[in-house]
Amino acid sequence: MARKIILDVDTGSDDAVAIMAAVLSKDIQLEALCSVAGNKDIDKTTENTLRVVQLLGADVPVYRGCRTPLVKFLCPDRLPVRKSKGPLVVDGKEVQMHSDFLDVPPATIKEQPISAPEFYVQYLRAAPQPVTIVAVGPLTNVAMALLLDGTIVDKIEEIVIMGGGYNITNTSPTAEFNIWYDPEAAQHVIHCGAKVTLVPLDATHAACITLDDCKRFRALGTVAGDFAAALCEQRIMVHSNSQPLAVPDAAAVHDALCIAYLIDPQVLRDVRHVHCDIGFRDFCEGQTILDMRYYTEPVNCYFAFDGDRQKFASVLLDLFARSEKTKS
Ligand code: RIB
Ligand code: CA
Repeated sequence: MARKIILDVDTGSDDAVAIMAAVLSKDIQLEALCSVAGNKDIDKTTENTLRVVQLLGADVPVYRGCRTPLVKFLCPDRLPVRKSKGPLVVDGKEVQMHSDFLDVPPATIKEQPISAPEFYVQYLRAAPQPVTIVAVGPLTNVAMALLLDGTIVDKIEEIVIMGGGYNITNTSPTAEFNIWYDPEAAQHVIHCGAKVTLVPLDATHAACITLDDCKRFRALGTVAGDFAAALCEQRIMVHSNSQPLAVPDAAAVHDALCIAYLIDPQVLRDVRHVHCDIGFRDFCEGQTILDMRYYTEPVNCYFAFDGDRQKFASVLLDLFARSEKTKS
């Protein structure tokens, strides 16, 4: 029986790979996609999500979500503006980890008429069985839905979150982007009472995708294999120039690892049940603060400290092979 999931995205390059993986997997029934502001503004993340659905010809509804974090937008000095070392220019062209718009045809399909938080509440209230939420962007939508109706937690089987970092960060010395963008939302979600599994940078950097993997994706001759290869090659270029990994010519494809975990949990390694809180201010804003003492605060989430890149690449290769052949 395929596992029912709702995928919450701030599409983005790795979000796009995650969406394709979820659509193509026979082990997953993708009930809906919810867009949220994060990598890009809500208009762009929604358009990009629609573009991926359209590219695969998938029958998956898209719900537009929150356009700002829960609290940060009230505090101008805390507006989420990501510090970066400036644009990467290769062969005269700027290369970003996330292009404003994905390089596939503009969407002609439309988003649904209600917002993502409203959808969560309506769908979960009516769900006959608990479903899994996979959140690979800021947690604003999920937190907003829980604020609208706390009882929906009983209809959530697990919340799988791409976010956080213990030994690895990417947005500040202490924070990973998704959590940093809306720390108040993250704190609310990881303490909501549902089973929470964090897939942090420690896991996503270990389970990286290489240029050789991209060659294998392209060799499939499928729509998803080609698009995933292009997205991962773009990410490898940026990683190599701004955040080199232990493995050369490789990139973290963070969000897709959350989908791969649902298909083969062994892609995550060293998963521990821990107590985690989120930092809100100053140097620890957006930090996933783990209690590593022997007598800890009550544990509230599972945290993957490592990942398996061979298993991850193999899961993705099998999935992209299921996509339609590219038209010659
Ligand atoms: O820090 C990585 C996360 O931030 C990924 O989900 C990426 O898509 C961005 O949203
Ligand atoms: Ca994302």
